[in-house]
Amino acid sequence: MDESLRSFYDLYERRKSIRDFAERPVEPEKLERLIISLGRAQSAANRQPWHFVVLSDEEGRGRINDLFTKDGFMRAPVLIVACADPAQAWVRKTDNINYSWVDVTIAVTEMIGAATAEGLGTCWVAAIDAEAVKKRLGIPEKIEVVAVIAIGYPKDELKREAKTRKPVSEIIHHGKW
Ligand SMILES: Cc1cc2nc3c(=O)[nH]c(=O)nc-3n(C[C@H](O)[C@H](O)[C@H](O)COP(=O)(O)O)c2cc1C
Repeated sequence: MDESLRSFYDLYERRKSIRDFAERPVEPEKLERLIISLGRAQSAANRQPWHFVVLSDEEGRGRINDLFTKDGFMRAPVLIVACADPAQAWVRKTDNINYSWVDVTIAVTEMIGAATAEGLGTCWVAAIDAEAVKKRLGIPEKIEVVAVIAIGYPKDELKREAKTRKPVSEIIHHGKW
């Protein structure tokens, strides 16, 4: 673990989307820790309505690599396909909102934090043909593909950069909207 990234705030300050990867494999023990972080996340009513397909060898990655629109993602040594199972999720009674995608997103966010702590770069890839991913990986019909997460060592050194974000004053409403 990179000691300089131990601080939670520093970790999320440093995290940024990585869209190209070095030719360096992810150590199996690191991948194992990322997998553990996925299963450890909180979820509504602890339903854990998630599944994750881990593609960490050439054969696995090759099943979906041609679906990426950016070449850099094809060089990621690990891809994790994050899936939601709405049938397993908690549903809010007052408006019937199904929480499966929220729960999957929480798990993935924790995993991305863990990957950052491990010195790895990640990118959340939503822009991919989810139906094709399902077919290629044998994902059951009732399961929804939320995202593919590309993971690996960044091709370029991570620099501390200012984030392009809305000012806090624009998004926080104290007391009332
Ligand atoms: C839900 C979600 C979907 C995203 N989908 C894509 C994507 O399909 N392709 C891509 O290159 N980046 C994607 N990203 C990365 C965002 O573009 C990125 O998080 C945003 O521009 C902020 O930059 P940062 O992550 O470097 O802080 C996605 C991020 C999120 C949270």
